[in-house]
Amino acid sequence: MQIEVLYGPIQASDADGIVLSLFEGAPLEGAVKAVDEALGGAVAGLIASGDFGGKAQQIAVLYPRGAIPARRVILVGLGAAETFDADAVRQAAAVAAKKARELQVSRLASVLHGTGKLPAEQAAQATVEGSELGLYSYHGQKTAPPPPALPQSLELMASDEAEMAAAAEGAARGQVVATAVALTRDLVNLPPNICTPAYLAQVAVEMAQQSGLRVEVLERKQMEALKMGALLAVAQGSDTPPRFIVLEHNADRAADLKTVVLVGKGVTFDTGGYDLKTREGMANMKVDMAGAAAVIGAMQAVAALDLPLHVVGLAPAADNMIGSRAYRPQEVITASNGTTIEVVSTDAEGRLLLADALVYAARFQPAAVVDIATLTGACMTALGVGVAAGLFSNDDALRDALLAASARTAERLWPLPLFPEYEKMIESDTADVVNSSREKFPGVGASATFLKRFVSYPWAHIDMAGMAVGEKEHPYIARGKASGFGVRLLIEFVRGWQ
Ligand code: BES
Ligand code: ZN
Ligand code: ZN
Repeated sequence: MQIEVLYGPIQASDADGIVLSLFEGAPLEGAVKAVDEALGGAVAGLIASGDFGGKAQQIAVLYPRGAIPARRVILVGLGAAETFDADAVRQAAAVAAKKARELQVSRLASVLHGTGKLPAEQAAQATVEGSELGLYSYHGQKTAPPPPALPQSLELMASDEAEMAAAAEGAARGQVVATAVALTRDLVNLPPNICTPAYLAQVAVEMAQQSGLRVEVLERKQMEALKMGALLAVAQGSDTPPRFIVLEHNADRAADLKTVVLVGKGVTFDTGGYDLKTREGMANMKVDMAGAAAVIGAMQAVAALDLPLHVVGLAPAADNMIGSRAYRPQEVITASNGTTIEVVSTDAEGRLLLADALVYAARFQPAAVVDIATLTGACMTALGVGVAAGLFSNDDALRDALLAASARTAERLWPLPLFPEYEKMIESDTADVVNSSREKFPGVGASATFLKRFVSYPWAHIDMAGMAVGEKEHPYIARGKASGFGVRLLIEFVRGWQ
């Protein structure tokens, strides 16, 4: 969708549809009041009838029939003014954009929702993000051509030149962010026979070439040279070879800039291995690379925004399969830092990929490393599905920075503990550590405690197992499809990390 920021009264716009918004129970003001007057009190009438009250996600359409140049007025609710934030803008913009598409609107114009309560830059960014994310659709491998992408354009109406400049900046950032989320969603939505480790690597290489990122893709031989025995043990059961993707922004300035490393779990399909998952458990395991996809998406945006840090994205990618070469329970494998791991469950494969990636991260002498992974069902048990991702960290400042980014993006994180008791649960009789807790509870704490064994720097771990796929109806996350969770969070985190 083409996006333009203009200034002038929206009631003068001759777009196919104009979007106005209203807080719940608020008096008519500004553009809404002007349109109401031009339409002879039609908005007031709508409210008086009880058909529209400005509730969040509420929508109504009015037809001006020549009273103003626009063909339609789309009214959207912002909810209560007291609880208003940038996410209310994203949601309202998404609902309005989807309504416009349903009405076959080609040229859409919109107010900047909530300016006055939010700086114009933030309002514009959130309006663009909500519109683009709400309109996202996945066409997959259908042979029929996709329907035309509507609306074709969105004009954001600022009230004066100063607001226009700020809004233009926010809108441009919103577009970068939405493009990154769409890339991630596409990767996660793809079937596992297409989205293999090699495919992920190819997409990363193409994206890097277009974005000016440095990219390196390690193949099995190079991983062997690095002694990545944990990652390789997972990969050895599949004919589909593994890849280890390294993306780097500002690689040439690494000595002068602070380094942040993002690491994403890239299991392109998780059968569980010999600890085979059930039919239900395996049903959607193509999304087990959502962490890697989030890192690839975030890196695209980090480059496009040219953020003033040395940022490295690592995506270890492999399939977890069964077969004559597949790793088995009771095997002892050796990670790239020499740590020996007794395999208790072949289904606890993600942490094995992450172990070698976290060891690799140390070479960049990072100020912070954040890993993101669809790691445990236990995290879903603890926090719910589609509610929040779990956050673990060995560093308070890093945890706070991630929580701040979480609040700004409405990609919810909830801090979980790294209690010392968990360390006992991953002790092995015969190796340095087991890959899965010997005790039933808490599986999520044990998984993070396992990862901690491989870090030597400020680190945070995000368990997004319950967040990869849209769970319930949501204005800008389609149910049953990839959410793109983590992309906006990681971008905002890097933007705010000093
Ligand atoms: N990929 C799964 C975790 C998962 C579950 C992601 C559901 C998304 C939705 C992970 O590799 C796994 O199988 N974890 C096991 C760990 C256990 C064997 C210690 C789990 O959570 O059951
Ligand atoms: Zn697994
Ligand atoms: Zn997995």
